[in-house]
Amino acid sequence: MSKKVFVTHQLPGERIHQLAELCDLNLWMGPGLLSAESLREELRDCHGLLCLLTDRVDAALLAEAGQLEFISSMSVGVDHIDLAAAGRRGIAVGNTPGVLVDTTADTAFALLLAAARRVSEADRFVRQGNWRQENAWAPDFFTGKDVSGATLGIVGLGAIGRAVAKRAQGFGMEVLGWSRSGREVAGVAGVSLDELLLRSDFVSVHTALNAQTRHMINAERIATMKPGAVLVNAARGGIVDEVALAAALVRGDLYAAGIDVFEREPIAADNPLLHLPNVVLTPHIGSATAHTRARMADLAVDNIIAALDGQPMPNCVNPDVY
Ligand code: GLV
Repeated sequence: MSKKVFVTHQLPGERIHQLAELCDLNLWMGPGLLSAESLREELRDCHGLLCLLTDRVDAALLAEAGQLEFISSMSVGVDHIDLAAAGRRGIAVGNTPGVLVDTTADTAFALLLAAARRVSEADRFVRQGNWRQENAWAPDFFTGKDVSGATLGIVGLGAIGRAVAKRAQGFGMEVLGWSRSGREVAGVAGVSLDELLLRSDFVSVHTALNAQTRHMINAERIATMKPGAVLVNAARGGIVDEVALAAALVRGDLYAAGIDVFEREPIAADNPLLHLPNVVLTPHIGSATAHTRARMADLAVDNIIAALDGQPMPNCVNPDVY
């Protein structure tokens, strides 16, 4: 009897068709968004789950998914999955690293440039009809902050952090980096997190979200950042204390921020960042190119195909379950 696999969303790419031939595939087609309740129902008799980062796979859900053997998430981050609970049950968890590195680094750099040069603010200004004869151009008109020659501090020197470093070098920036493991990267001066925050004109966050990194960039750390610095976060919202960040931006301690990820997604209506003109906001689109998303879907399916075949997933975040 073939194994049952539940897929929580329509996927781009080709491999999903192959998967349909290898298992009893159930793809969520609605109506509406998949609720936590529907996910629980669907998983009751499933062996495999292919999910997105918006699907919360917590211990309570896993406890009711008695047959579940493997989970593949179409994401590099797996903070939406309770890895400890999965590990206790011997459930393998796969992700999709590698293929999204350059795309996500591009997004972080786009946010950095947009925040430094006030791109969103200027765009709103033009669209709202405020660009008139009397203010057509002036020496101080929409002046921003130079990127070239500035210092960028990269928090987390995994593949995406290193790809951001490459871009920064191309822009003539001095690059500082910090990683928990003390990884050395060519062209990046390894420093402590304290020194990085103190010296950087721009700080870009590229760590995973976990118990050690939750609110790592909190009020105390923000207070140690260089006056007038810019913070970029295209990793996970929970790493930065958004309320403390907003307060620092309102006080003028920081110059601007470029934020793609939020503690609550979609963003809560009362998120203070929504009301600040010097914050560039994007809706978690770090890896969002059609090409990259198709490659991520293919990797997510490859993980499921391997698991169905009784093989280790090619990209498994908890290989000790094997
Ligand atoms: C995106 O945020 C991902 O984790 O893939």
